[in-house]
Amino acid sequence: MNKTILCIGAGYVGGPTMAIIADNCPDYKVIVVDKNEARIKAWQSDILPIYEPGLDEVVKRTRGKNLFFSTDIFGGINEADIIFVSVNTPTKTFGAGAGKAADLQYWEKTARDIIEHSSHDKIVVEKSTLPVRTAAAMQRILQSNTKGLNFEVISNPEFMAEGTAVTDLQHPDRVLIGSMDTPTGQAALQRMIDIYTHWVPREKIKTTNIWSSELSKLVSNAMLAQRISSVNSISALCEKTDANILEVSAAMGLDSRIGSKFLKASIGFGGSCFKKDILNLVYLSEFYGLPEVAAYWEQVVLINDYQERRFVAKICNKMFNTIASKKIAVFGFAFKADTGDTRESPAIYVCKMLLEERAKLAIHDPKALENAMLDLADETGDITYCNDPYEAVKGAHCIAVLTDWKDFLKYDFRRIYELMEKPAFIFDGRNLLDHKAMFELGFNVYPLGQPALSHLK
Ligand code: UDX
Ligand code: ADP
Repeated sequence: MNKTILCIGAGYVGGPTMAIIADNCPDYKVIVVDKNEARIKAWQSDILPIYEPGLDEVVKRTRGKNLFFSTDIFGGINEADIIFVSVNTPTKTFGAGAGKAADLQYWEKTARDIIEHSSHDKIVVEKSTLPVRTAAAMQRILQSNTKGLNFEVISNPEFMAEGTAVTDLQHPDRVLIGSMDTPTGQAALQRMIDIYTHWVPREKIKTTNIWSSELSKLVSNAMLAQRISSVNSISALCEKTDANILEVSAAMGLDSRIGSKFLKASIGFGGSCFKKDILNLVYLSEFYGLPEVAAYWEQVVLINDYQERRFVAKICNKMFNTIASKKIAVFGFAFKADTGDTRESPAIYVCKMLLEERAKLAIHDPKALENAMLDLADETGDITYCNDPYEAVKGAHCIAVLTDWKDFLKYDFRRIYELMEKPAFIFDGRNLLDHKAMFELGFNVYPLGQPALSHLK
């Protein structure tokens, strides 16, 4: 049996997923290809293109043994008979469905590359999140080949989250594999099961029809994001009523039917998946003539935008209704802790709104400063990027905590307070810091969804 696996797309999904497969399946050869030469060079080097706790060790163990990174896409296609596709599927920015539907041009290009460079039958695995029924379109494109080859499309969505990719991949809650109910579809399914049972207990591998698999991925993300928007909407109500969102979340989460995870109020969710996938679901619902369903899910995104705006409005309002020319130390730019990824980070929108108010920004993040510079490259305002937190706070009027990096907890806030303008403010968009301790140091503290701790009368 041909035991070579190819993955097209060496990004946040493809890279870590293939490293874990290679690590657990020494009898397979795993090749990861990408059209981006710089990215492949980075995967081959000591400094990987993405920061992910624990990933360096896995890559070091497997690279050059049974894990290979290459730009030879066509050679890889020819060699492997199982091809995972994890190219990006961003939201369309043009034409029909702009702003909501998925842009499938990279996917289609990949399908055409596969046809052109194949000389034997292949299993093509959808790893990127795709709109429901993409597999049907894929199957049609792939079957249009004139070489008499059979291409079997499998849906195997990835549920790992950034920042915890290695543990999520090593110990997944479930592995979902959708396949066609045909003899070739079932044979392809078995080949996939053979790979995952190298390290995942068989009962955690769920098999479904291909449409359920595609839709489950979209809906899982939409449900998770919906929990955050629900709790964020209540954080606004807490601030008006002196209730405390931490207490409300904890009380709610103790109900075993609700559960305690993903109820942390924040300035909003970010990341490459949530917004894109919900908008995708909205588009799909509209497409199938279900406007009420579309409006229901769209509200999750609207609350997220509202939560970002609300945070900036609070900063302005509490700092005497003007932040023009005031220096704001931004703590955290990544969309969550333990990643350098800033795609759809709420920090991007919050910083842009602060700049519109003519504030000066000093941005500090342990891993995401390079991406922050790219995200804000077109902004004309006064922005500095600081590796050193104490540099960022020098002469600042407030600190805005935008990412839940644990590193911030270790900083010397007495020293920070001394370096800042007075009155000094903290706006904690992640409820990360010890607010009482900060208040006792002299800060005016504005947590999220909790009563403020202010020295000002
Ligand atoms: C998500 C899904 O969790 C994962 O299963 C899917 O495969 C890809 O999308 P990811 O975007 O990497 O993963 O991160 P996640 O941990 O889900 O966080 C998304 C955003 O929600 C972050 O900005 C995070 O800070 C925010 N969040 C999360 C909250 O604001 N509150 C919470 O309680 C949890
Ligand atoms: P994700 O978070 O879904 O992994 P990324 O943007 O990090 O998304 O990764 C997608 C990768 O796919 C990028 O590195 C991009 O260069 C690569 N890619 C996109 N289209 C193609 C293609 N036709 N052939 C090879 N690689 C591609």
